Amino acid sequence: MERNGWSLGGLIILTCLLVAVGARELRVKHLDLDHKAAYNHTLATILVQYASAVYISDMTELFSWTCSRCDGLTEGFEIIELIVDVEHCLQAYVGVAKDLNSVVIAFRGTQEHSIQNWIQDLYWKQLDINYPGMPDAMVHHGFYSAYHNTTIRPCVLNAVKTAQEMYGDLNIMVTGHSMGGAMAAFCGLDLMVNHEAKSVQVMTFGQPRIGNAVFASYYSELLPNAIRVTNDHDIVPHLPPYYSCFPQKTYHHFPREVWLHNVGLESLIYPDEKICDGSGEDPSCSRSVAGNSIADHLVYYGVKLGGETWGSCKIVMDQRLAQFGIQDLQGNFVLSTSSTLKPSSETGKSSI
Ligand SMILES: *[C@@H]1O[C@H](CO)[C@@H](O)[C@H](O)[C@H]1NC(C)=O
Ligand SMILES: *[C@@H]1O[C@H](CO)[C@@H](O)[C@H](O)[C@H]1NC(C)=O
Repeated sequence: MERNGWSLGGLIILTCLLVAVGARELRVKHLDLDHKAAYNHTLATILVQYASAVYISDMTELFSWTCSRCDGLTEGFEIIELIVDVEHCLQAYVGVAKDLNSVVIAFRGTQEHSIQNWIQDLYWKQLDINYPGMPDAMVHHGFYSAYHNTTIRPCVLNAVKTAQEMYGDLNIMVTGHSMGGAMAAFCGLDLMVNHEAKSVQVMTFGQPRIGNAVFASYYSELLPNAIRVTNDHDIVPHLPPYYSCFPQKTYHHFPREVWLHNVGLESLIYPDEKICDGSGEDPSCSRSVAGNSIADHLVYYGVKLGGETWGSCKIVMDQRLAQFGIQDLQGNFVLSTSSTLKPSSETGKSSI
């Protein structure tokens, strides 16, 4: 009896210790529910047009900002650099929106496979690398390296520098849709962490999860001005899956979500924009519905996102653009409005 009593007591003490340790760890990593990134509807309707335009495959139209998606609220935008990573089928641009007093950086979503296949693959993405310099912060290697380990990153950073040399200290707004949103998220963080940018704002549309809860916690601390817009039943923000029973192992969105959805019944339906809590995983936002729609993934604020055609990485380029371009051995290239001024800035690369 005595022995059993002791071991039971011991067990209880041990359990309490484990709970205490667990609780302390959770408290440290707990997200601040009151932290607010300001959501600006007008700005969202502008940035979604930038995120839509980066899908255009006609380089001439995009570079001169004359494409079919390059008007409306983005009129007057001035491209500094257009970056195409042919090897990995990625596309991004950096430019200056004087009306926003900002550098705008936009990343294209996936184009390579059918959108259905790409979404199916998202179910199986592992948290497989550690984010550098952030203990216990895990992210998905594929999304991470699409930004960090391709021609995209050095070109984007170079273009931001050029823009600031030309126009002084501008704000930086980073945007993208779908996988482009994941890249935008990594880019914004990179600018804050590794480049000491002062004012970086990230706004993504239909972005998948990219890291675990520890990563989300670092993210909201380092980049509080981040908004993830989700749309109704869009499936992609639900992926890779969130497993509430494995809080230490699961993917976890960073805050702050803004959920576009319809409220009301029958003839009294009207659109609503719900500003979600600071947890990143507000159960009353997109998580309150089944993520079962691809159609909801492809239109945000009435703006079409996604390519004009799927399943190809084809680009259309006019010979007149050659004077602005620099190409590397893999066929990746960057078109830059400032390349004519600094023709030898990219050593080892030839002119196209
Ligand atoms: C929202 O963004 C628009 C466009 O940048 C800006 O003109 C407006 O002042 C902003 N509103 C607020 C309340 O910050
Ligand atoms: C970066 O890409 C190269 C070549 O594609 C690959 O060998 C390397 O392992 C990658 N590094 C990381 C950290 O992903």
